[in-house]
Amino acid sequence: MQNQRVHAHVLVVTYPAQGHINPLLQFAKRLNLKGVKVTVATTPYTIDSIRVNSSIAVEPISDGFDQGGFNQAPTLEAYLESFKTAGSKTLAELIMKLNNSGTPVCCVAYDSLLSWALGVAKGFGIPAAIMLTNSATVCSFYWQINRGCLTLPVEQETLAAPTTGLPSLDISDLPSFLADQSTNQSAYLALILDKLGTLHENDWVFCNSFEELESELLEALAAEWPVVTIGPMVPSFYLDRRIEGDTSYGASLWNHDNDQCLKWLDSKPLKSVVYVSFGSMACISTDQLQEVAWGLKASNMPFLWVAKEFKDHRLLELIDSIGEAGLIVTWCDQLEVLAHRAVGCFVTHCGWNSTLEGLSLGVPMVCMPQWSDQPTNAKFIADVWKVGVRAKRDGGIVTREELGKCLTEVMTGERSGEITSNASKWRELARRAVSVGGSSDKKIDEFIAKLPPNPQ
Ligand code: UDX
Repeated sequence: MQNQRVHAHVLVVTYPAQGHINPLLQFAKRLNLKGVKVTVATTPYTIDSIRVNSSIAVEPISDGFDQGGFNQAPTLEAYLESFKTAGSKTLAELIMKLNNSGTPVCCVAYDSLLSWALGVAKGFGIPAAIMLTNSATVCSFYWQINRGCLTLPVEQETLAAPTTGLPSLDISDLPSFLADQSTNQSAYLALILDKLGTLHENDWVFCNSFEELESELLEALAAEWPVVTIGPMVPSFYLDRRIEGDTSYGASLWNHDNDQCLKWLDSKPLKSVVYVSFGSMACISTDQLQEVAWGLKASNMPFLWVAKEFKDHRLLELIDSIGEAGLIVTWCDQLEVLAHRAVGCFVTHCGWNSTLEGLSLGVPMVCMPQWSDQPTNAKFIADVWKVGVRAKRDGGIVTREELGKCLTEVMTGERSGEITSNASKWRELARRAVSVGGSSDKKIDEFIAKLPPNPQ
């Protein structure tokens, strides 16, 4: 399919958070590798963090906080409102500029958190593609709320009969926004429901998942649910080691010294290291971090821990006492770490990207979901794909004993063989989905084939 649409020009519009930039950038790279001209739009505050092949242009659009991004906004609502106003205006200006530059934009592909981008694209008469960055399962819950099939807050009785295509679920398996109606959660939910209301107005609805991963749900809802799975959006080198070149997402919002991590991992035995990361957005309480630290220390397993904020003195003292057993860093290249031969287990918050990365690289997981879509992802990791275990909470946190129990179960326990073999199976299925002729690859080709031709 190389060079099939050299003149098609897709504008990919990103939301400036690590877990959102990554899949959209990967989508941009996949299109570009297939010969499509791509421009990526991102905010001024994040633009310098993006490093992609020079054949992909990167252009700014404004969220209204050009100097400091989200952190400068007084509230989430204020940020989203500002992004909608400034983003709509600057996206329209960018489209005009690109349209005057020789290869007009023939499709706007945008992150699902930016539902206003649809209106901008339609204003120019340009087809639009929304990219859902959660699993199809999670999106289907939001979709059901939007259509009135589920009401808020969702209660246990409503879940008694399993939703079509899904295993039976508990309230604690649902996306947090559906059970917890506190202010911040509601603002996110409003944003999500907004995009689902306009789903059918898009020319394409893409989801960062793959057919085999959520087949029952996708089959059950096929007639009314327009989602097309094109993932996992993980750089191709990690899915198929024979492919050179596409070795990173191409964006890091935090500086890091990956050589230090890789050197440290090189010194550890095969599959001996526990890698711990709670992603880019979750705020973990000091009490929880302390339990994690004690649990890791007691496990006697070497660990690499990404901890963005370690300010509390109790934690610092504890970390000092851990010594050589662990390496604690503020950020790393997670893909390189997960792909390292020394890593045997991933303690994760189950963000959707981390989940797909763990699955695609065949790393068994210990789930510690925090909020948003993470509880549902954890349910699937533990009970549907069976590539890990979910740590139980006691008084709102995972205790050191529980973490220790889960680590043993995944690394050396009775079920470790079954979990490892499932992890290998899913790694292979993920690889096949994005390989030439695989389920996701074919759908990207179909998309490209339908792009309106450019008048050149
Ligand atoms: C959030 C939500 O949790 C997620 O479920 C949603 O779909 C997107 O927004 P986040 O909390 O950041 O994202 O988690 P995740 O989706 O896992 O994304 C984190 C990304 O950062 C991953 O692609 C991971 O590879 C990367 N990462 C994380 C690093 O590169 N280095 C690190 O040290 C940690």
